[in-house]
Amino acid sequence: MDDPLVYLNGVMTPISEARIPVLDRGFIFGDGVYEVIPIYHRKMFRPQQHMARLFRSLESIGIPNPHTHDEWMALIGKVVAAHPAQDQMVYLQVTRGVAKRGHAFPKDVIPTVFIMTNPIVLPTAEVRARGVACVSMEDKRWLRCEIKSISLLGNVLAAEHAAQNNATEAIQFRDGFLTEASSSNVWIVKNGVLAGPPKDNLILEGIRYGLMEELCKAGGIPLEQRRISRDEVFGSDEVLLTSATKEVLPVVTLDGKPIGNGKPGPIYQALYEAYQAAKEAA
Ligand code: PDD
Repeated sequence: MDDPLVYLNGVMTPISEARIPVLDRGFIFGDGVYEVIPIYHRKMFRPQQHMARLFRSLESIGIPNPHTHDEWMALIGKVVAAHPAQDQMVYLQVTRGVAKRGHAFPKDVIPTVFIMTNPIVLPTAEVRARGVACVSMEDKRWLRCEIKSISLLGNVLAAEHAAQNNATEAIQFRDGFLTEASSSNVWIVKNGVLAGPPKDNLILEGIRYGLMEELCKAGGIPLEQRRISRDEVFGSDEVLLTSATKEVLPVVTLDGKPIGNGKPGPIYQALYEAYQAAKEAA
């Protein structure tokens, strides 16, 4: 499907025809928030959690929520129904709206709402079996990483750094401590214990962050949320990435150095299987 129908400000339109004014604050300032929601068998995975995060993001930057929960669900449902793929990835964006350029919030603007979907592209079985390479870098982003903001220049530069080095992700450190990757959360495993950085302003709390908490609890895997040093990451038995499109993915090298024995490990395997079971059960 080359020209899927998208939703833009009340209208379903082919994406090739969707237009926004150049004064949209999303275009001018990156002034907006977004969500990426996986769809399996035409059903949203973890819809309540994605909506809650969207509402939090909007509130944290003072954009009035243009829709109720039920309206959002109906709009997303419409876009999903218009696409032939069973498994999709919905991208949803809200910007502050269109106004004469000026940094502070304009008065009486109407938020711009855009929803599109594409077939979800998941890591192949070969990639999962082999594991992926990552590179490390200093986290140079702003200090409000908990907001799912469309202002993603720092993340874009990190992702490009990874791409330039034939790596899947750039794993970032701030002042010597693990934060997250350019578009995924990062976990380490040592002696059977999973650890992730604290849910603070230095990372985006992935919907899969919460899912890992649930899966660990159900599966009897001990989980720690704490600051994790660079040395600990390099010395860990396993490193994992989680995101809507990676699900759970094993990292086997960091800056060319093997993690653990350089192969996907048992905690990865257990969490991947639990993730697949959660998808089926949803
Ligand atoms: N990215 N951290 C960052 C910086 C992210 O961009 C993402 C997701 C995550 C994981 O969040 P979740 O589990 O809700 O996918 C963590 C999405 C997929 C993206 O920008 O395309």
